[in-house]
Amino acid sequence: MPTVAVTGATRVVGIFGEPVAHSHSPTIHNAAFAALGLDYVYVAFHVRPVALAGAVAAVRALDLRGVNVTVPHKERVIPLLDSLSRVARTAGAVNTIVNRAGHLHGDNTDIVGFLASLGRHRRRVRGGRAVVIGAGGAARAVVTALQLAAVREIRVVNRTLRRAAAIAQRFGGPRTRLAALPLAALREAATLADADCVVNTTSLGWRGERFLPLAYAATPRHCLFYDLVYGRSTAFLRGARAARRPVMDGTEMLVRQGAAAFTLWTGRRPPLDVLRAALGVGAAELTTGSPAGSLQSPAKRGAIV
Ligand code: ATR
Repeated sequence: MPTVAVTGATRVVGIFGEPVAHSHSPTIHNAAFAALGLDYVYVAFHVRPVALAGAVAAVRALDLRGVNVTVPHKERVIPLLDSLSRVARTAGAVNTIVNRAGHLHGDNTDIVGFLASLGRHRRRVRGGRAVVIGAGGAARAVVTALQLAAVREIRVVNRTLRRAAAIAQRFGGPRTRLAALPLAALREAATLADADCVVNTTSLGWRGERFLPLAYAATPRHCLFYDLVYGRSTAFLRGARAARRPVMDGTEMLVRQGAAAFTLWTGRRPPLDVLRAALGVGAAELTTGSPAGSLQSPAKRGAIV
C-alpha cells in the first residue's frame, strides 16, 4: 500500500471516537490520499465524551480540514456545530464535520453510504417493509436512509423499548409507518414474515458473541440480512446464511460513507477499489450481496466506521 509523506503543508483530517483504535477509516482514507497524490493525512483521535467540546474547538484552532465523528459522539456533537446538512438534521446524527474557514458544518455520510451499499437490493426494499434492530445513532441513519429509499413500513426492535419508541415518534409519518417493538418480537413470525430486509445496527456479534433468538425461517426467501458490523462472520449473518437468505456486512457501507466524506473534504472522488483493497477485500466479494459474496477474508476486522 502506498504511504503518505507528511510535510509542512499537509492538511489534517481524522476521526473522533471512543473507542477509536479499531477504526479502519485511517486505512481507507490514507490509501485514497496516496492514490490521488493529495497532501492530506487522516489520524484517529481518542476523544472521551468529556473532551468533545475541546476537540471540536481544536478543529478550528488547528485548522483541521474536517473530521469524522463516531461512537459515542454522533448525536452529542450537534450543538457544537455551526450548521447541519438536511440529512444530518433529519437523522439527528452527524458523522462528518467539514471546516469551512472556521465554520463547522455537520453532515451524515452514513446515510448515503448505506443507500449506495444496498445496490441491487434498493429496488427490492422500495415500497416494502424493513426491520431495524437497535435504536442508537446508527439506527437513526439507517431509518433515514430507508425512508429515502421509500420503504413503506419500518419496525424498530430494541432492548430499551423507550429508545425505539423515540425513533418511531420522530421518523413516523404518512409516507413511512414506524413501530417500536421489544427484542422478544424477533422470535415472532408476525414481525418477520413480510420483511424485505432485516438490518442489525447494534454491535452485537462484533466480539463473536451469540446473537439474539431470531425466527430466520419466518422471513421471505428474498429477505436481505444486513449487519452494519464489517468484515466479520457474525452470528446474525451466520443464522441468515444457514437459512439461505441473502446477506451483507458493513464493509461496503464503510467504503461508501468514507468516499462521501473524502469528497466533502477534498472535492475529489476517491477510487472505490483503492478503498476496498485497503481493507483487504476484493471488489467482487463486496458487490454481490449474496451468500456466496459475503466476506470471509480474515484480514482486518472491526465494527461500524
Ligand atoms: P450507535 O450510535 O453505534 O448506534 P449506541 O447509541 O450506543 O451506538 O446504540 C447501540 C445499540 O445497540 C442500542 O440500540 C443498544 O440497545 P439499548 O438502546 O437497549 O442500549 C444496542 N445494544 C448494545 N448492546 C446490546 C445487547 N447486549 N443486547 C441488545 N442490544 C444491545
